[in-house]
Amino acid sequence: MPANSLLSQINKDRIPGHIAIIMDGNGRWAKKRALPRVVGHEYGVKSVRTVAETAAKLGVKYLTLYTFSTENWNRPQLEVKAIMALLVRTIRKEVATLQKNDIRLRTIGNIEALPADAYRELQEAMEMTKDNKRMELVLALNYSARWDLVQATRQIAEQVKKGIIEPEQIDETLISKTLNTGEFPEPELLIRTSGEYRISNFMLWELAYGEFYFTDIYWPEFDQEALYKAIIDYQKRERRFGKTSEQIHK
Ligand code: IPE
Ligand code: IPE
Ligand code: MG
Repeated sequence: MPANSLLSQINKDRIPGHIAIIMDGNGRWAKKRALPRVVGHEYGVKSVRTVAETAAKLGVKYLTLYTFSTENWNRPQLEVKAIMALLVRTIRKEVATLQKNDIRLRTIGNIEALPADAYRELQEAMEMTKDNKRMELVLALNYSARWDLVQATRQIAEQVKKGIIEPEQIDETLISKTLNTGEFPEPELLIRTSGEYRISNFMLWELAYGEFYFTDIYWPEFDQEALYKAIIDYQKRERRFGKTSEQIHK
């Protein structure tokens, strides 16, 4: 279906405020074409650009992209190096696009442990885009949800130890705001590409009531139409948060 006809099916008043995406399938996309995996990652950047611009135009406020997991360090070192180099190149090149589209760059994950040039490039881009208002693009880098829960637990334990808070004051709100994602609302919609049906250590806490959307499309082929389809599917769902359908409609 052409993009325009899909766009007309989207209810502009019910755009998810926060969309999170597990961008998967770069390697398989490349393999299908007898290309090196790295080429798949390079084409994946094209999808990032398209999806970020489309999301911003639709009025999405936060777009979180799972870019590199803590577990991804276990890949062949050549691939890890290539991904890091691509990250540096892409950020350098795309800052202008972010500025043009009024998009603020953010990160979650332990970015201090990234290679120094990647860390520096990210810091600069975040600083340059910090006043942008239309959308926040959050890259999950060296991120895993369990790591985040551990670091938050440590921070809270420190506060208890110092007598700043009592154990009884630990509640869901405190945990949420101590996580790396603390400044962002919870995603209403999680998209995973490439036909895998798992969460791979991503936003375990934040997705407690998120709507999941899976597509077989490999990430390098995920385009505007694919995003429209995911949002249309999301808008057909009824979010009940434990209540009955009748309660929601009354
Ligand atoms: C996602 O694509 C990108 C990263 C995890 C960095 P993959 O590289 O996981 O692609 P597949 O799953 O091997 O096809
Ligand atoms: C999840 O994809 C991580 C990112 C997209 C960055 P993976 O390809 O690493 O996940 P698994 O290993 O298939 O679960
Ligand atoms: Mg994968």
